[in-house]
Amino acid sequence: MSKTQWAHGFYRLTPEQRRQILADQYYLSSTEQSLLAEQASKLGNNLVENYITDYSLPEGVVTGLVVNGKSYTLPLVVEEPSVIAAANNGARRIAKSGGFYAETSSRALVGQVVIDQGEDPVKKINWLKKNETTFLEIANAAHPSMKKRGGGAKKVRIRQVGRFISIDLLIDVCQAMGANTVNTMAEAVAHYLTENGINVVTAILSNYATDSLQTVTCKVAYRDLATKQMDGAEVARRIVDLSELAQVDPYRATTHNKGIMNGIDAAMIASGNDWRAIESGAHAYASRNGQYRGLSIWKIIDNQLEGSITLPMPVGVIGGSIGLNSLTKLNYHLNGIETAQELAAVITSLGLAQNFAAIRALATTGIQAGHMKLQYRSLAISVGAKQTEVEQLVTKLSQQSHVDQEVAKRLLATIRKESSNE
Ligand code: MEV
Repeated sequence: MSKTQWAHGFYRLTPEQRRQILADQYYLSSTEQSLLAEQASKLGNNLVENYITDYSLPEGVVTGLVVNGKSYTLPLVVEEPSVIAAANNGARRIAKSGGFYAETSSRALVGQVVIDQGEDPVKKINWLKKNETTFLEIANAAHPSMKKRGGGAKKVRIRQVGRFISIDLLIDVCQAMGANTVNTMAEAVAHYLTENGINVVTAILSNYATDSLQTVTCKVAYRDLATKQMDGAEVARRIVDLSELAQVDPYRATTHNKGIMNGIDAAMIASGNDWRAIESGAHAYASRNGQYRGLSIWKIIDNQLEGSITLPMPVGVIGGSIGLNSLTKLNYHLNGIETAQELAAVITSLGLAQNFAAIRALATTGIQAGHMKLQYRSLAISVGAKQTEVEQLVTKLSQQSHVDQEVAKRLLATIRKESSNE
């Protein structure tokens, strides 16, 4: 294949041909070539361009995540060893105190059609306001099935932003993820505006989903907070300190929110949703008052710890890869979730559980105590421990004051020597 074909025709090839070209170009070993071929799926090639293989991640479950009185088993897909362990720990402790309460939330996505304000913004805004019904009609005509299902474009909001005017279409996408629907509707309105001589800057979904906010709260009794070394009231006070710190220091807030998103992203991937959309919306929401802050708040009220979180959560249970990927479908069988509203409530609860587990650890033993055991498993595998040796090596590593690759290799050699002497 010539250089030009490599650059311009790669997407036209079959996955087998692409893998062959990569193997030749990068001198892939036969083991590497087999790995690429073995992991490949039919679906992948239909989902992304220049597909060569599937990249798999571990899937595990959180059990007993209680939301509005119902106990959920929630699949998570994530590579970080401590995430699922922490989520289970947080969910279990909070379940003992009654679980999470999720408010019923309204849900609309925003399609932005942004125009130049021109020389007379007041006149333009007046014209836009007079035409709001027309915009809704055009948007709904572009995707009539959504309206038939009871959804569709419901409202127009007009905002002046710098030298631009944003015509926000508030769209009910029913149970779907809905990005394509919103973009189709926004582009239809953009087309109408262009035909009327207006300079359209862009027409696209906004991931700042402030019209799909989900609030979740929980209470934790002191008895469910205590450690062997620290009583529950002290743990609660320290958690409140951490919560306040995340409100005033963006350095800490970013990590605090990373802990929340650890669980949310993992649940989003397992549920086939667009986790990047939720990530960007969450961080924008964390900065809504001009400073980046922690997304959850923990307070002591009536001698118990109370947590709350509000997040933009425009998730769906239909659309994207949800119906195509058989593992995603299976995950809905496990979580038993039927509606987008239920998914939003459960995933936001998981975020609060994840955050609770992280800051309880920070407030008490520190994060490394729990993390290290899990990290040791990865370290054991990375130095070549076989499945039968991993547990033994992890135990030996936990007894060391200093651990690194060299220590792990030395201990593995000792284990092997001991077993050959037996
Ligand atoms: C690690 O993945 C997440 C934490 O850093 C979150 C936090 O500090 O709150 C433990």
